[in-house]
Amino acid sequence: MAAAEPSANAEHTQDAFLPSSRREMPEAEEHRRLERVSKSFDITLKIRRFDPDRDTEPHWENYTVSVEPTDRLLDALHKVKWEIDGSLTFRRSCAHGICGSDAMRINGRNRLACKTLVRDVNAESEVTVEPMKGLPVLKDLIVDMEPFFEAYRSVMPYLVTSGNEPTRERLQTPEQRERFDDTTKCILCAACTTSCPVYWSDGEYFGPQAIVGAHRFIFDSRDEAAEQRLEILNDREGVWRCRTTFNCTEACPRGIEVTKAIQEVKRALIFRRV
Ligand code: SF4
Ligand code: F3S
Ligand code: FES
Repeated sequence: MAAAEPSANAEHTQDAFLPSSRREMPEAEEHRRLERVSKSFDITLKIRRFDPDRDTEPHWENYTVSVEPTDRLLDALHKVKWEIDGSLTFRRSCAHGICGSDAMRINGRNRLACKTLVRDVNAESEVTVEPMKGLPVLKDLIVDMEPFFEAYRSVMPYLVTSGNEPTRERLQTPEQRERFDDTTKCILCAACTTSCPVYWSDGEYFGPQAIVGAHRFIFDSRDEAAEQRLEILNDREGVWRCRTTFNCTEACPRGIEVTKAIQEVKRALIFRRV
């Protein structure tokens, strides 16, 4: 039996499933669109490598891999690891911008590799990938997060209350909740702290994330330890070390207004009122 010719009706049937904006799209234009979206291309990653068992100094190595425009930089790193050099070491967990474990310096800017599309990183030239600055490098793109977490722990990042356990939930008005809504979004990725020039020059500075972590509870109407936290941040290495350079705000992948939160803590210290 002869193969059936594709009929005009069949085309109409397929068309019916397209959004109306694309139904009328001329064939050539649609072809170009599909090419743009699906065309794979080569990307060269210039990665800063350091293996404490072999190297005395970090060094750069280049890797070229084929990617799709919709791939993330994390996908490109996986390709390098799985197809070229299995010794490349980096952290990642969720791959969806939630766990905060794959913050790194991409083209000189702190970003999450899983939230960075390769088409947005000027892939025509080399893309540099390095560990975040200001924390000791353990291996390749992995830094020792302990100094960062130590600063976070020191501001008491938990609810402090006294008296008997309540028999029902602690109520709060929408306005009271709104005061610390922004700082609840922190995923502890360290992109802010490791983009701060004050933190680079003085590792004793608490860093913006610790202040964000404190802000989260200082302005929570249910908490009773605001005074204690403010006293901790009144330290020589506390909020007053901030020079309002805004790097932290620009670096935050969660869009938290980090510098604004720091200013609010400074104001609370000056007026001794939250
Ligand atoms: Fe990351 Fe933003 Fe939290 Fe800083 S404030 S640790 S940049 S999520
Ligand atoms: Fe540093 Fe952010 Fe202040 S980058 S100086 S903590 S505004
Ligand atoms: Fe979890 Fe990127 S891997 S935030």
